[in-house]
Amino acid sequence: MTELPNKLTAKLAKRQAGNALRKLPLPNGLIDFSSNDYLGFAQNETIFKNASSILEKRGITANGATGSRLLTGNKGLYGELEVLLADFFGSDSALVFNSGYDANIGFFSAVPQRTDIVFYDELSHASIRDGIGMGLAKSYKFKHNHLEVLGSHIDRVQERNVDSDIYVVTESVFSMDGDTPDLKSLAELCASKGVYLVVDEAHAVGVFGKRGEGLLNELALQDKVFARIVTFGKAMGCHGAAILGSHALKSYLVNFARSFIYTTGMPPHSLATILAACEHLPMSGGRQMQLRQNINFFKDQLKQHDLKPFFIPSNSAVHCCLVEGNEKVKKWSLRLQEKGYDVKPILSPTVPKGQERLRFCLHSFNTENEIEDVLLILANLFD
Ligand SMILES: Cc1ncc(COP(=O)(O)O)c(C=O)c1O
Repeated sequence: MTELPNKLTAKLAKRQAGNALRKLPLPNGLIDFSSNDYLGFAQNETIFKNASSILEKRGITANGATGSRLLTGNKGLYGELEVLLADFFGSDSALVFNSGYDANIGFFSAVPQRTDIVFYDELSHASIRDGIGMGLAKSYKFKHNHLEVLGSHIDRVQERNVDSDIYVVTESVFSMDGDTPDLKSLAELCASKGVYLVVDEAHAVGVFGKRGEGLLNELALQDKVFARIVTFGKAMGCHGAAILGSHALKSYLVNFARSFIYTTGMPPHSLATILAACEHLPMSGGRQMQLRQNINFFKDQLKQHDLKPFFIPSNSAVHCCLVEGNEKVKKWSLRLQEKGYDVKPILSPTVPKGQERLRFCLHSFNTENEIEDVLLILANLFD
């Protein structure tokens, strides 16, 4: 086998020296405080069986899409799924992408034009930042969740760039912090300044909203945004994503989003699984309620154990305890794993240096005993 070039070997060595070398973990059978399967849908037998019967009922036996959706891959279930998604999320249209990563790079590389400007929250997901980096527009990050700072940035660029369209992008639940911007004020700010608001709802779908439609729906703000990105690999327990917006936006993306155009469509079984999960979600109020109870219980326990100051405030299923330094956070995560709890360390450079953290993902299926115990172990680590 040909050797890795020296420059790449050196980069790996540097990662190793910084205690930040990424490795693929094997399933460990521990109690799940780390997956994005917030409602247990990834393991749900009903969804699995319903996906199969969706295919059977329609006589679909194909294993693959056979091509890009623009060529041979736009098979039956796509149309049905996109109608259902638009209806479920309360949008004019929906366009399915192979993943949330693809949706974000497709959108941000294609929509903002050379003379346009994108403002993105400094903690935006890598897929948003990568998409912006692939596009031609100028971009500026703004301080995490700071709307005043954002407002003054917008004023400044609007004075100088009268012909620019301005886009603002944020997440309704931040993946590595679990927190949320003031979406109502943000929507008002964007409307008052005439700028386009885009919100990634990856970690809000299934967790917020009466039927799990996300936080924008819960706040009745779904019509105030230019586009929403929803993903199916987290609470929906399957895979893929959709961009929600107007019919014209959909048509634009079909024509210009390269991560949509130049890739094979999803296999029918994946589409059937998304359909089955979407149909199941409104019937899962019990699971959503259980998740909400667990989130509240977790927060109560943080107070009980005087852990609250170490955690980033969050109402979502993601709760992060700051533990500075890659070495220390890895050690603490290992301690929790030795006691049976799968809590992952989030290292720099995934998060800024000094803000390394233990990321607790809560689920409908976690028990109060598990939550009590894992936080007791954590509290003892602080002693
Ligand atoms: C906020 C956010 N957007 C997009 C993605 C990418 O979604 P997917 O896993 O479907 O590629 C993630 C995944 O972690 C995410 O956290």
